[in-house]
Amino acid sequence: MFKNFSKSQALQQRARKVMPLGVNSNFRYWGEGITPYMKKAKGSHLWDVDGNEYIDYRLGFGPIILGHAYDEVNQKVIEEIQQGTMAAMTTELEVEVMEKIVEMCPGVEMARLACSGTEATMHAIRVARAYTGREIILKFEGNYHGFQDYTLWSTYAPATAYGNRRNPIPIAASSGIPRVLGEKIITLAFNDFEGFERVMRSFGEQIAAVITEPCQGNCAAIEPLPGFLELIRQRTEEYGCVFILDEVKTGFRIAKGGAQEYYNLRPDLATYAKSLGNGYPVAAFGGKREIMSIIGDGVAHGGTYNNNKPGVAAAWATLTILQREPVMETIQQRGRRLMNGLKEIFEEAGWPAVVMGYPAMFSFAIGVEKVTCQRDWNNSDQDLYLRLVEAAIERGVMPDYDPREPWFLSYSHSEADIDRTLEVYADVVKSVRK
Ligand SMILES: Cc1ncc(COP(=O)(O)O)c(C=O)c1O
Repeated sequence: MFKNFSKSQALQQRARKVMPLGVNSNFRYWGEGITPYMKKAKGSHLWDVDGNEYIDYRLGFGPIILGHAYDEVNQKVIEEIQQGTMAAMTTELEVEVMEKIVEMCPGVEMARLACSGTEATMHAIRVARAYTGREIILKFEGNYHGFQDYTLWSTYAPATAYGNRRNPIPIAASSGIPRVLGEKIITLAFNDFEGFERVMRSFGEQIAAVITEPCQGNCAAIEPLPGFLELIRQRTEEYGCVFILDEVKTGFRIAKGGAQEYYNLRPDLATYAKSLGNGYPVAAFGGKREIMSIIGDGVAHGGTYNNNKPGVAAAWATLTILQREPVMETIQQRGRRLMNGLKEIFEEAGWPAVVMGYPAMFSFAIGVEKVTCQRDWNNSDQDLYLRLVEAAIERGVMPDYDPREPWFLSYSHSEADIDRTLEVYADVVKSVRK
């Protein structure tokens, strides 16, 4: 497919011999001969092994909030690791990171660290089950909460497999997930007010937690309809369920205090990873003191690498920069220009399209007028989306190849990057129309 791709192709063949699909995460496999292998990343740009340069809108699936290889973050990491990477006892630096998290995230009174978003959601679910003494988890179709078995249901299946929206069928996203866990999960279409009310009336008292991403960060950044997150807050309180807001993608990205700040929302627990460490492995979960306090009192939480020095040092530096500099404002202004520009390009082409999400994290669906859940999004023209992505990559602009994955912006994306991206998209829309 791509021109000048021979080194990536050769590396893929070599990698194929020692790694399933030649990658270390299924999401990094785009297909035979079309999977790029990367050499370098700096600021807003990426270079593959063939020397092709791209403006990067994948940003490592979202973590890079400041820019790739951000000097101040790297310097802090180097400084700290020279004093040891792993004491497996608590450090002052780590306490400072937790203080910053509590200061920045409005609903978080106490938190604990983990290494990945998957771990953060897994721990939050255990705490919620322990706190309520219940086992059922309610999640929304198209939301992704990491690779743990409890919520890897109804994420990627074709929406036709989900059954009727009044009575959705939870679909495990992988072989190997115990079927019995399907009895512990209820799935619903995102933004389904009526369905949510119905399920809470029938099962509210058996539900340990309602977990949701604030927007569908793993399905084209579909936004919550006004009042939907507030309804979840209200009913979970009424029925004594824990409301877990999965801010792994939105945290420290759509606002300094994530979706809790953006929507003025106070869930019981929230999960973080990605932008917390600008690409280093660090995650956290936290929330109300009353709930978090049960950890250690008969509730287990641990992990050898939970306070790994590179992750903690990167989080310290990233949060310090977010507190000090106009990161959010800059991204918002540039991202808004990009979103509006793309909208205009689609309008000029006469394509119905919905541009969704936030300047720091957005996407678009073509061929539809309205998208409120994965079922709607499934009716969009994904082939066309892919053809646009392929043509853009050819011209040095790289969103993710998966149309569900949003575009991400960093503090390092310049006005010139935005200009170039809009130029490229205007051109690819023209060429694809031909
Ligand atoms: C909302 C959300 N939760 C959890 C995860 C899992 O995070 P990780 O890949 O760090 O395990 C992701 C990853 O993309 C995510 O988007």
